[in-house]
Amino acid sequence: MARHLITSALPYINGVKHLGNLVGSMLPADVYARYLRLRGHDVLYICATDEHGTPAELAAQEAGVPVDDYCAEHHTLQAQVCRGFALSFDYFGRSSSPQNRDQTQYLGRRLDQNGLVREESSDQIYSRTDGRFLPDRYVIGTCPFCAYPAARGDQCESCTRLLDPLQLINPRSAVSQSSDIEVRASRHLYFLQSRLAPQLRAWVESQENWPALTTSIALKWLNEGLEDRCITRDLDWGVPVDRPGFEDKVYYVWFDAPIEYIGATREWADQDPERRDWRSWWYDADDVRYTQFMAKDNIPFHTIMFPATLIGTGEPWKLADYIKGVNWLNYYGGKFSSSRKYGIFMDDALDVLPADYWRYYLIANAPESDDTSFTWELFAAQVNKDLADTLGNFVHRVLTLGSRLFGPAVPGGADPGPHEQHLEEQIRAGLRGYEANLDALQLRRAAQQLRALWSAGNAYLDLKAPWLEIKDSHDSARLTLRTAMNLIRLYGQISAPIIPDTAHALQSVFAIGNEPEPIGEAWPDGTPGILNRLTTGAPFRVPDVLFRKVTERDVETWRSRFGAPE
Ligand code: 2FM
Ligand code: ZN
Repeated sequence: MARHLITSALPYINGVKHLGNLVGSMLPADVYARYLRLRGHDVLYICATDEHGTPAELAAQEAGVPVDDYCAEHHTLQAQVCRGFALSFDYFGRSSSPQNRDQTQYLGRRLDQNGLVREESSDQIYSRTDGRFLPDRYVIGTCPFCAYPAARGDQCESCTRLLDPLQLINPRSAVSQSSDIEVRASRHLYFLQSRLAPQLRAWVESQENWPALTTSIALKWLNEGLEDRCITRDLDWGVPVDRPGFEDKVYYVWFDAPIEYIGATREWADQDPERRDWRSWWYDADDVRYTQFMAKDNIPFHTIMFPATLIGTGEPWKLADYIKGVNWLNYYGGKFSSSRKYGIFMDDALDVLPADYWRYYLIANAPESDDTSFTWELFAAQVNKDLADTLGNFVHRVLTLGSRLFGPAVPGGADPGPHEQHLEEQIRAGLRGYEANLDALQLRRAAQQLRALWSAGNAYLDLKAPWLEIKDSHDSARLTLRTAMNLIRLYGQISAPIIPDTAHALQSVFAIGNEPEPIGEAWPDGTPGILNRLTTGAPFRVPDVLFRKVTERDVETWRSRFGAPE
């Protein structure tokens, strides 16, 4: 049993996230966490809302409520919708927590003690109309790199470049839209991360198995040369900077947000004295394997800035062992966008269909090697084929036929023959491939393997045709149905990381009452006899239809509800 720490990029507090956010971080992290737990590992899966910075302040202003109230309310809403998607966080924290404030201030002080912080006066954009400084997203303008006209002061949404508000062409205030602005000097703290470049490079280059996307982004940054980063802002909302003369400033949101991975672990530990000391996950934790999940725009922060913060302390804080970075999920070729309300948002998705339809589709099409595009047409085709026809129909056929021919109990019948032998070999090999892909976080391939395992059941059933076999031999038909029921049991185990609610329904087929038998172990051991584990005579029940088909009419309705190009 190993200890696994898992974090997924923290969703901004400003509203329910879209499916692009979900597939980029929380969903793959959840699949991995569920898988590792089922295999008996000690897993701590941490996520939280990212509550500081300009996204939160601007959203609160738009909603007309104080920013702390806005965050409290939206944290609850996001937690709810994450539960709806069966995301199995061990803890879902808040970056505005006292624990994160303490942790952020501590790490900031350590960097300062190690001579890695410089105080400097720098030019900032000040709005005469708004009577305040306009850091980051408070400024909007044209991107100097790609000419996107609505680039934000911190990052261009179109070309993903990180920006300084002063770089924007034709800058204007996001609060008042006014372009009556001036440049004013303000004192700030700079993190001298360039001094840590050799250690960062050594760390990145020592990683053999990271996705090419992660490594290439990290090396691009290192090769271009690291710039020292301003880690404070002229804002009220955020982690206060505990330094004389900085009473009206806070840490930059991108400084405190990743620290919340640690902060949230402290929140988790503080909830219950029985819980293992949070430090054992983060400090001198060589026995922990730490995996991070995120979309590509977050990679620079996790391969450069956050590890630089941790390394710069000179203390043995835990660095990521593996960074799973993914590309974008697009919506009909265009980018999902919260600000433009384009695409499908998590709450709306659940309004349309239960979580497992989405979880399966998104993992089967995860943008691992390239951007992928969501369309309702592809979604309908894949859900119908894989979930309704392949898995759902198999389960239904086997259990209704079994029940009709021999009653609602696992039939006995003949001993396994050559067909069963062949099927078992196929299933055991497929299972090994599935596990290898999950271990390697090749999630698309893992979904393909899972689908192949479901298909093997259908092929076996069609080959043996128990509805015909029964005419010659009851014992043969019994064997076939018993073997197929064992497959259902197996599917109930191995489908759980990706479609947990359906897996639970499959497990309940055989677990009647409070009797945990005959499901037995959480994950199949893959040893011979894997398709002959159910106790003969054990009762089963036929579940409701597992997946309904998506009709052409549904597609039309959803296309018009969510907006889809012709
Ligand atoms: O890009 C985003 O959505 C950020 N809220 C991610 C933060 S990840 C971590 F560093 F906190
Ligand atoms: Zn741009």
